[in-house]
Amino acid sequence: MTELIVMVGALNADLGIRVAKLPAPGETVAGRDVETSPGGKASNQAVAAARLGGRVRLVGAVGDDEAGRMLRDRAKADGVDVAFVAVLPAVGTGQAIIPVDEAGENAIILIPGANGAISPGDIPDAAYDGASVVCLSLEVPMEVVVNAAVRAYAAGATVILNPSPFRELPDELLDAVDVLVVNELEAGQLLGPAQSFVAVDGAPALREALAPHGVTRFVVTLGAQGSVAVDGPAAAQIEPSPVSAVDTTGAGDAFTGTLALRLAAGDSLADAARQASVSAALSTTRRGAQASYADRDELARAIAGSERSAAG
Ligand code: RIB
Ligand code: NA
Repeated sequence: MTELIVMVGALNADLGIRVAKLPAPGETVAGRDVETSPGGKASNQAVAAARLGGRVRLVGAVGDDEAGRMLRDRAKADGVDVAFVAVLPAVGTGQAIIPVDEAGENAIILIPGANGAISPGDIPDAAYDGASVVCLSLEVPMEVVVNAAVRAYAAGATVILNPSPFRELPDELLDAVDVLVVNELEAGQLLGPAQSFVAVDGAPALREALAPHGVTRFVVTLGAQGSVAVDGPAAAQIEPSPVSAVDTTGAGDAFTGTLALRLAAGDSLADAARQASVSAALSTTRRGAQASYADRDELARAIAGSERSAAG
């Protein structure tokens, strides 16, 4: 039977707005092409993995409203099991307001709603039943993340943490993590105040910082510089895929979702990160988060293409 991947975290209705440039403090800019689409980190990761053929369960919460129904319906349409998405009374579904500029860069205003109201008690043990990989991100209360990590780790699942948006990580959480996925900024924050992680040079420092927690596997995504996958003493540099980005919203979630899928399938961390990197790059060529994610055929074609260009 196919391995079960469980994503725990946020579901948001994303309000995407195109702008020529992101507004500076006090500035008014004109927006256009306003679009509502399904988002939220866990929901995005779930759809990314499911669209590539994974067996995926999404765990989180929405409000009893139109946005919550839209999010569950859209995830279900991609084959995601949404039975453990709680519907909380008296709170709205999470929202994200996302202006995107001409270079595809964004800024995000997050309205947590149900994501901020969920507690460990809203998630039954059965949510982790049979999970081979459990994937966590930080748009829900830290208490929920820690509880999920500890339960999943104890159940023998591979626990992947994408600490985004970044917050201080309790030791108890890191102790229950198997694989950490961070961008350059988050890697710097993990290294301590005002530290910067530059290409492979930061890998030994991060390896040392994570070792006391038994975290020996991590990936650092470096945007246009590709990424670095560290597995114990080995560090693999992953080349970036050259694309012209239209919208980078949710590219990190495409990366994490694809990585989770490939790790569940038994790939090495470096191989999984290679596929995740191509998957994330493809997502930036289209608008929105989930709306922009590749299916299995498209990813296979893009990987074949990138191997040809690497060979040639
Ligand atoms: O990571 C991208 C996601 O962050 C968006 O879908 C938005 O909902 C915000 O949570
Ligand atoms: Na996109």
